[in-house]
Amino acid sequence: MTNISLESRLGNQVFPNLMTNASGVMCISGEELDKMLESNAGGIITKSATTNYRPGNPTPRQQLLELGSINSMGIPNEGLDFYLKFVLDHQNNEKPIILSVSGLSVEENKELFTQIQSSNFNGLIELNLSCPNVVGKPQVGYDFPTIKEELDTVFSVCDKQIGVKLPPYFDFFQFDQVAEILNQFPIAYVNTINSIGNGMAVDLKNESAYIKPKGGFGGIGGEFIKPIALSNVRAFRKRLNPEIQIIGTGGIKNGSDVFEHVLCGADIVQIGTELWREGTGVFDRLADELKIIMEEKGYTKLSDFRGKLKEL
Ligand code: SIN
Repeated sequence: MTNISLESRLGNQVFPNLMTNASGVMCISGEELDKMLESNAGGIITKSATTNYRPGNPTPRQQLLELGSINSMGIPNEGLDFYLKFVLDHQNNEKPIILSVSGLSVEENKELFTQIQSSNFNGLIELNLSCPNVVGKPQVGYDFPTIKEELDTVFSVCDKQIGVKLPPYFDFFQFDQVAEILNQFPIAYVNTINSIGNGMAVDLKNESAYIKPKGGFGGIGGEFIKPIALSNVRAFRKRLNPEIQIIGTGGIKNGSDVFEHVLCGADIVQIGTELWREGTGVFDRLADELKIIMEEKGYTKLSDFRGKLKEL
């Protein structure tokens, strides 16, 4: 299968294969990021950064489930200086590194993007508008005027390549309105979807919630969420300007899931729950499985089938 390529381009970055971690998994500490560097992932994304170190929510705050996961991490991170240094130190690696940013207010994002603008970083920056787990803060991605305000603000201080991480949407009016806002900006890509916010998982044996923050409510990831992830990839691919690319995130467990994300329109994909469950060997397994499917179908590159989902 040496003639099958999984290479993909996102903005100005070439990913030797289309798979990276999903932000939050294997990307908070320097040790985890180093493991990602050593892995066969095609790229890396850092944990969403705030201005300062954040310890995050009280533990237990994450739990693997039979069909996925629940988490309410609360954006534990080392602060922007740490992640900006990491991406600058590895700027010319073969593996692109996306710098994720999640200020807790428009003003904080303005300062964070001003700092990134004044650095030499020339890769992709992701504005996370979709964390469901910060106590007392609603998800910006469900507040459409604030999405516009955030984008007006960061693009007014930063002319680098910026992507946006979105929450899942569930209705066509949401797809239409969000796409209409995003199409007004020179966005490099959208990353869809973040976890499905405020789910509940119950520990039957102990008759309790699995996680402590917010009384047990948390973001749901993994197999549970694949149909919603695919619908969001597809819905945005059909609505966004063609130059806005797409990262497909959600529910990838097997090579066939990667294939489906690309068929719906994903340019690259991210793996969260399954990376957590399986470790970095997941990238090798998924690549092998995807190549077998592509070979069976006579495809040699991702563009042979990207976005080509047949509608009946
Ligand atoms: C978290 O840190 O709580 C998760 C971040 C996110 O979902 O964006």
